[in-house]
Amino acid sequence: MRLPVLRNHLYFLSLLMGIATYIPGLSKVLSAGTGGTISARYCYSVWLRHLTMAYKNGLSNQPNILAELGPGDSLGIGLAALISGANKYYAFDVVAHAGNKRNIEIFDELVELFKKREKIPDETEFPDVRPYLKIYEFPTHILTDERLNEALKQERIESIRNALLNLGSGDENNKQISYFVPWNDSKVLKEESIDMAYSQAALEHVNDLSATYEALYRWLKPGGFMSNEIDFRSHVTAKDWNGHWAYSDSVWRLIKGKRPYLLNRQPHSVHIDLLQKFGFEVICDMKTTDTSGIERKFLSSRFKHISDDDLITCTAFIQAI
Ligand SMILES: C[S@@+](CC[C@H](N)C(=O)[O-])C[C@H]1O[C@@H](n2cnc3c(N)ncnc32)[C@H](O)[C@@H]1O
Repeated sequence: MRLPVLRNHLYFLSLLMGIATYIPGLSKVLSAGTGGTISARYCYSVWLRHLTMAYKNGLSNQPNILAELGPGDSLGIGLAALISGANKYYAFDVVAHAGNKRNIEIFDELVELFKKREKIPDETEFPDVRPYLKIYEFPTHILTDERLNEALKQERIESIRNALLNLGSGDENNKQISYFVPWNDSKVLKEESIDMAYSQAALEHVNDLSATYEALYRWLKPGGFMSNEIDFRSHVTAKDWNGHWAYSDSVWRLIKGKRPYLLNRQPHSVHIDLLQKFGFEVICDMKTTDTSGIERKFLSSRFKHISDDDLITCTAFIQAI
């Protein structure tokens, strides 16, 4: 371990947190809560960003059947998709963060946001949420009055709300919503059964990226697409945004401790390579870069040879067919 890393108090704190997960009961506490999807406005903003970008990139802007990886504290992003016209939503997580009381509260707020055609909450409200859009007006060119009035019909909204109230993990009989926790087998869904798969700030946490991309490929219908926002930053495990790449594998194992997931630490190019390996065609790869991180000489041996591009790529929004 090199000196700049040792001086970093977050390094010791991260190690302590990792070790604390071995104390009975603490692993659960330290894995609880994810942040973003506790807010209806966040969920609304994220869904409309994925939808707007799909439209911009010539992809379907009326996906009917969706799957989300890592919805977090609520199913709100998928609920926004259902409210605005989708008919089936599968959510996959490894921890059951999303409870029904919050889901219902978020759902009711989302319905109001759509009824008001509220503007997409932008970077002044959510500075860390990517992708940034050029225009944050409500996308009436996609969600036309005709389409949205149909989607917001009282009986349709009640039916989704009831599906939410009756939600049981992995319940195949629920017509609109299924929440799989944990999931570790792509066979939980039929091949070629979804139009769109998406995730927001989740793919950087997935332990087995290769198996996950393979599952997504199997589930998507021909012509279906994927929309993923990935955050490669250290998520407060280090002082610098890319400081987690300074830790050796053994130190990282201690930092992760017994938590079911932390960060897979894979840089941007690994995602692109896996997409290509499984047969996806990348349609959009919007990266943000940050040159303020640690220099190459401080990277651990595993990351020493990452490309110059990977070293400064801190987020990416990737859509692929
Ligand atoms: C930072 S949270 C993001 C939550 C939400 N998407 C948001 O935007 O706030 C990461 C989520 O990914 C989930 N996750 C981690 N590994 C996963 C896996 N293998 N499959 C599905 N979800 C996973 C976590 O449990 C968590 O819900």
